[in-house]
Amino acid sequence: MALLVQLCVLLAAVSACVAQMDYSYPTLWNPATLVNSTVSYKDGSTSLQGYLAYTNSTMGPRPAVIIYPDWDGISNYERWRANLLAAEGYIAFVADIYSTAVKQGPSLPAANRSVLMSEFRTNSTKFRTRVLTSLAQVRTYDLVQKDKIFAIGYCFGGGAVLELMRSWPATTGLLGVGGFHAGPLTTTGTKAQPGNPLIVQVYQGADDPGMTQDMRTAFTSELRAANMTWNFYAYGRTVHAFTLMENPLWNGNKSQSNGYNPAADRASWWALRGLLMESFGLTNMSNPYTATGGAYDYQTGINGQRLANAVAA
Ligand SMILES: *[C@@H]1O[C@H](CO)[C@@H](O)[C@H](O)[C@H]1NC(C)=O
Ligand SMILES: *[C@@H]1O[C@H](CO)[C@@H](O)[C@H](O)[C@H]1NC(C)=O
Ligand SMILES: *[C@@H]1O[C@H](CO)[C@@H](O)[C@H](O)[C@H]1NC(C)=O
Ligand SMILES: *[C@@H]1O[C@H](CO)[C@@H](O)[C@H](O)[C@H]1NC(C)=O
Ligand SMILES: *[C@@H]1O[C@H](CO)[C@@H](O)[C@H](O)[C@H]1NC(C)=O
Ligand SMILES: *[C@@H]1O[C@H](CO)[C@@H](O)[C@H](O)[C@H]1NC(C)=O
Ligand SMILES: *[C@@H]1O[C@H](CO)[C@@H](O)[C@H](O)[C@H]1NC(C)=O
Repeated sequence: MALLVQLCVLLAAVSACVAQMDYSYPTLWNPATLVNSTVSYKDGSTSLQGYLAYTNSTMGPRPAVIIYPDWDGISNYERWRANLLAAEGYIAFVADIYSTAVKQGPSLPAANRSVLMSEFRTNSTKFRTRVLTSLAQVRTYDLVQKDKIFAIGYCFGGGAVLELMRSWPATTGLLGVGGFHAGPLTTTGTKAQPGNPLIVQVYQGADDPGMTQDMRTAFTSELRAANMTWNFYAYGRTVHAFTLMENPLWNGNKSQSNGYNPAADRASWWALRGLLMESFGLTNMSNPYTATGGAYDYQTGINGQRLANAVAA
């Protein structure tokens, strides 16, 4: 963990970790039906301000997705992801970790980001209390189906959702978590406990210099020991922060820690979208491979058309 922080500090020195411009992400939703607001809430005496987005083209309670921001805090990047999820019919909430005392976004100096992050990364009690506050906030909304909540996060926020996952059973209503280029994967606090029913997915750059084999092994060992349901995606030819469009494409230079990879970005987003549908019960794919009569019956083939290579019954 310390290594990750140091790495980011080091890279910040050569400004590889810092995007100065608050990139204007493309609009891929219908602004006419998007409703958004900033939301004030509290963790004890600390004032927080999140971002809420949903579409009013559908009415009534719906599943919720919480988004935990990366190390510069809440910026257009997280709001954009929230809007995309809102356009899919979910209610999306960008959680505040740092508080209103911090001017968040691309202009936050790297040194400040590192200090802020390590306050949480070195104190799992503080980190878990803060991330649970956002879950409680989301559960207050009438538009939220309170037993259908999912949490995702980017980089530092990926570490945040893993701390949220480890907070079970205090995670009422939460079905699972997804971490994009999440870090750190391990915790200084209590590990995931056996019986934890949350599903965990992480989407990592296989060439991310900050994600060592040791970290990966420690993480998967923790999830195995807790007998959890999890997937570890490792995208090839992909480094850190591969979902941020403002990053340069990776050219194979091992000293370049961050790089946008459109293929890995989209593949991981599709993986998440499928996972959300599965988790929220929006698919009817729980047993697609039934012996007889299922939509993908392997004996008779798709739609009753026997596949050319189908094994004889
Ligand atoms: C939906 O939200 C848009 C944008 O805020 C607003 O203009 C519109 O009146 C809303 N429609 C309904 C039915 O609430
Ligand atoms: C929030 O909604 C307002 C009014 O519709 C819009 O102008 C603004 O761009 C939206 N903010 C984001 C981050 O989408
Ligand atoms: C960064 O941290 C320094 C030292 O704590 C502080 O004086 C400064 O106001 C911070 N800057 C921002 C933009 O938060
Ligand atoms: C960790 O955070 C908790 C809650 O904010 C605080 O009470 C505690 O003193 C912190 N521990 C350390 C070692 O700073
Ligand atoms: C592990 O989880 C599976 C699936 O939920 C369950 O069937 C099995 O009994 C669990 N094993 C242990 C040792 O808890
Ligand atoms: C690789 O990246 C580092 C850090 O950005 C840079 O200093 C170096 O010139 C790059 N090397 C090549 C061959 O592009
Ligand atoms: C799923 O599909 C099967 C077969 O078409 C149907 O019998 C069942 O009712 C469906 N389940 C749900 C939850 O829609």
